[in-house]
Amino acid sequence: MTAERLDGTVAVVTGASSGIGAATAIRLAAEGATVVASARRLDRLEELVAHITADGGRAAAVECDVADGEQARGLIAGTVDEFGRLDTLVNNAGVMLLGPIVDADPEDWERMISVNVDGLLACTHAALPHLLDAAQTSSRRVADIVNLSSTAGRFPRVGSGVYNLAKVGITAFTESLRQEVTARSVRVSAVEPGAVDTELIDHLSPGALEGFWQRFDGVERLLSEDVADVIAFIVTQPRRVAINEVLLRPTDQEL
Ligand SMILES: NC(=O)c1ccc[n+]([C@@H]2O[C@H](COP(=O)([O-])OP(=O)(O)OC[C@H]3O[C@@H](n4cnc5c(N)ncnc54)[C@H](OP(=O)(O)O)[C@@H]3O)[C@@H](O)[C@H]2O)c1
Repeated sequence: MTAERLDGTVAVVTGASSGIGAATAIRLAAEGATVVASARRLDRLEELVAHITADGGRAAAVECDVADGEQARGLIAGTVDEFGRLDTLVNNAGVMLLGPIVDADPEDWERMISVNVDGLLACTHAALPHLLDAAQTSSRRVADIVNLSSTAGRFPRVGSGVYNLAKVGITAFTESLRQEVTARSVRVSAVEPGAVDTELIDHLSPGALEGFWQRFDGVERLLSEDVADVIAFIVTQPRRVAINEVLLRPTDQEL
């Protein structure tokens, strides 16, 4: 398979202010895409855009809380207004608030569902008309949605119930949408990383953090760049090749 560069394309990456999203924005810009990097922390996005442009890439920072449907729709509409098209959507924004279901704070559940699920749905729904158009009219004749699921989308575990609910749902939705739009040349892919060394665990309660380190002590975790490489691999395939699902884990991670 020969990778194709992304020159002339426009990509939106949600949750680009840190971790996997930031690494993906850098990687897609290096492939030639104009990248709209979005999240809530605008200062971090502006640093990222400065880094990309210093390396000769093209990027813009857009503040957006994807849990707010109006902001999510505004992100996509604003991208198309500014850059005239949309070829790639990476639904990466997410939070992981682990803990037991008994005595959980339902606000944690609402936050996980509103960011990980509602945010992904709002961005996807707003982007689809533009992606379908790009797939029909661009010289590449293809467009992409990449959804960040997780090993949690494949293997439920105690203490991870609502995160499992969100990520299993994302994997299932990805396959359903893939079947719906693949004949119109929009590829829809799920990426399912194991433990990645990012800020994701910064939001855990002390008890959940202790449980996390009991599980991952001594595990050499993936880097954000490892996941960004997978995402870039997916979206630079020639039109005929659709990488539907990728599960990648640290070599040291058993489950
Ligand atoms: N790290 C792992 O081990 C791992 C494993 C499997 C899957 N994943 C998935 O990978 C994705 C990225 O996570 P990460 O590991 O890179 O963690 P991270 O460094 O914490 O990044 C999460 C990103 O999501 C953004 N975000 C959070 N709430 C948001 C909201 N309401 N609206 C818009 N953006 C929001 C954050 O930006 P702001 O706070 O600036 O808004 C940040 O840019 C998530 O979907 C996560 O579930 C991670």
